[in-house]
Amino acid sequence: MARRKIALIGGGQIGGIAALLIAQKELGDVVILDIPEKENFVKGKALDIQEMTPIDDSDCNLTATSSYDDVAGADVTIITAGVPRKPGMSREDLLEVNLKIISDVAANLKRVAPDAFHIVLTNPLDSMVYAFKKLTGFPKQKVVGMAGVLDTARFRAFVAMELGVSVEDVAAVVLGGHGPTMVPLPRLCTVGGIPLTELLPKERIDAIVQRTRDAGTEIVKLLGNGSAYFSPAASAVLMAEAYLKDKKRVVPCAAYLEGEYGIHGYYIGVPVIIGAGGVEKVLEVQLTDEERAMLMNSLEAVKKAVAETKL
Ligand code: APR
Repeated sequence: MARRKIALIGGGQIGGIAALLIAQKELGDVVILDIPEKENFVKGKALDIQEMTPIDDSDCNLTATSSYDDVAGADVTIITAGVPRKPGMSREDLLEVNLKIISDVAANLKRVAPDAFHIVLTNPLDSMVYAFKKLTGFPKQKVVGMAGVLDTARFRAFVAMELGVSVEDVAAVVLGGHGPTMVPLPRLCTVGGIPLTELLPKERIDAIVQRTRDAGTEIVKLLGNGSAYFSPAASAVLMAEAYLKDKKRVVPCAAYLEGEYGIHGYYIGVPVIIGAGGVEKVLEVQLTDEERAMLMNSLEAVKKAVAETKL
């Protein structure tokens, strides 16, 4: 079988790490697309990783371009084109500038990659993935936003750090929009099958929930110039792998809801199954009244950002 083709739309921090991880996992050939001013820069990244492949025994061709014609035939796109946050900025502060960029990306991908599985990372995530879907008209199964995999990984990391246990044994789910209103669900978090609520007192759990909500901002402050990129890249690659290998992974993602959770016509973080069909199914979890109220509060934040797109 011919190798699969993965297009990285935006070859900055996240795009570069995604290229590295895809090469190391031998998921397929990589094309990095960026703006003409950055073409040599992304060519340099692609060549650097290409020259790493013999060290990793990994067969993968990496190329870079500023022409969408080279993206044609992609099986998956990972979209990070846009501007990241600086300290003091919210994700919503990026809306105006990133909406223009996503509109350009959508017009081009509509032309060259109508059948791909599209994973959007550009922030503010829930409104940018909404805009991408509206502008392309692609089916909801094939357009997904990456947020929940990352938010859940952050929650799991903090639980593992607190308890001094393996991250492998911490399972969790975080719902809602990708921002301070997100809804980590400690009730559903288990550690080796044991409910987290039996292992930690409420105040420690509350502190972990809050740190998860603020985790992106914590990194923005520490980096001083830009936002997280290793963990977002790994999260997107996990989703790409689930699609390419038909793994049927159960992960939270920003999915387009048409009645699930009582939500109509918005992207928001919910557990889904990702396989060869893309977002094959949205899983509906029974929520407590308090959890449901938090999800609805998060939806309000998403709706506000979506309204600003005027789409
Ligand atoms: N088409 C293609 N690429 C573009 C375009 C465009 N119209 N506009 C900007 N880019 C490219 C930039 O040139 C840059 O190389 O997108 C890349 C973004 O990379 P970084 O600035 O390093 O940002 P990164 O940390 O990768 O984050 C990208 O993902 O998580 C979100 O908030 C984050 O919105 C940001 C995005």
